[in-house]
Amino acid sequence: MFELKSLIDITDLTPEEIDELIATAEDIIENPDKYREKCKYKKLATLFFEPSTRTRLSFEAAMLELGGSVIGFSESNSSSASKGESVSDTVKVVSCYADIIAMRHPKEGAPMIASMRSDVPVINAGDGGHNHPTQTLADLLTIKREKGHFDNLTIGFCGDLKFGRTVHSLINAMVRYKNVKFVFISPQELKIPDYIKTEVLDANSIQYCETSSLEHYMSELDILYMTRVQRERFFNEADYVRLKDSYVLTNEKLQSAKEDMCVLHPLPRVNEISVDVDDNPRACYFKQVKNGKYIREALILKMLGIE
Ligand code: CP
Repeated sequence: MFELKSLIDITDLTPEEIDELIATAEDIIENPDKYREKCKYKKLATLFFEPSTRTRLSFEAAMLELGGSVIGFSESNSSSASKGESVSDTVKVVSCYADIIAMRHPKEGAPMIASMRSDVPVINAGDGGHNHPTQTLADLLTIKREKGHFDNLTIGFCGDLKFGRTVHSLINAMVRYKNVKFVFISPQELKIPDYIKTEVLDANSIQYCETSSLEHYMSELDILYMTRVQRERFFNEADYVRLKDSYVLTNEKLQSAKEDMCVLHPLPRVNEISVDVDDNPRACYFKQVKNGKYIREALILKMLGIE
């Protein structure tokens, strides 16, 4: 059993702790009845200052399936943040009511500030273009179940690699495994940030290449991680409109891919994966959604110190 006060960044977890979470999630999948009352009398607060479907509802479903209950809000306008209350005060107050908090905020670093003020564990459910550690846990559980291992994988990331917090978090997680290679597929304006290249990729001697072509490296990939061009991260609508349809994955483009390549996407999707691909055996993004609930159950149990 590991001790984790809060989860702000995926590197707050060691690879061994991630293995432990994955093992628990797989046990929950196999033996759901064993876990039905594990969180009886415990409360999760979901504080979402930014919209969400998957992350908020999967956290809530996870807590309900563990026998606990849920309080919270799904937009800042329905909380006293709209009256000018600070994140610190909001979290201090909510930690008087709940045993654990999952928080999403448009500002990078807000969940970290919250964790310093809270009396209960805080989970970062996505902060601006920075991090999304529980999406990464869902991604890792999916990779483990589909590929069986994390070493020796070539992963293509496609789309918004500049603002994509799910991309940044998954890179941080994957650089800790052996012989992992990355292909970064993006338009010039949405390339992976320089600080990730120097502080994460170069610092860990990771092999990577950058391209604007979705097709060029397709046959070499074990995983293709598609992402949405995020309207909410642009300052200028014209730039968003120009870039939004940069990539559209179709069955035709997948013809050169390995038979067992996995297509992942944190979702929501807009146009970047054609709906025809949903029936392609390589499409794993709805499995990824399901896995997100199980790994969040495992995380809640671990962070509350429940065996
Ligand atoms: N993957 C993800 O974070 O989705 P939501 O924005 O719907 O939570």
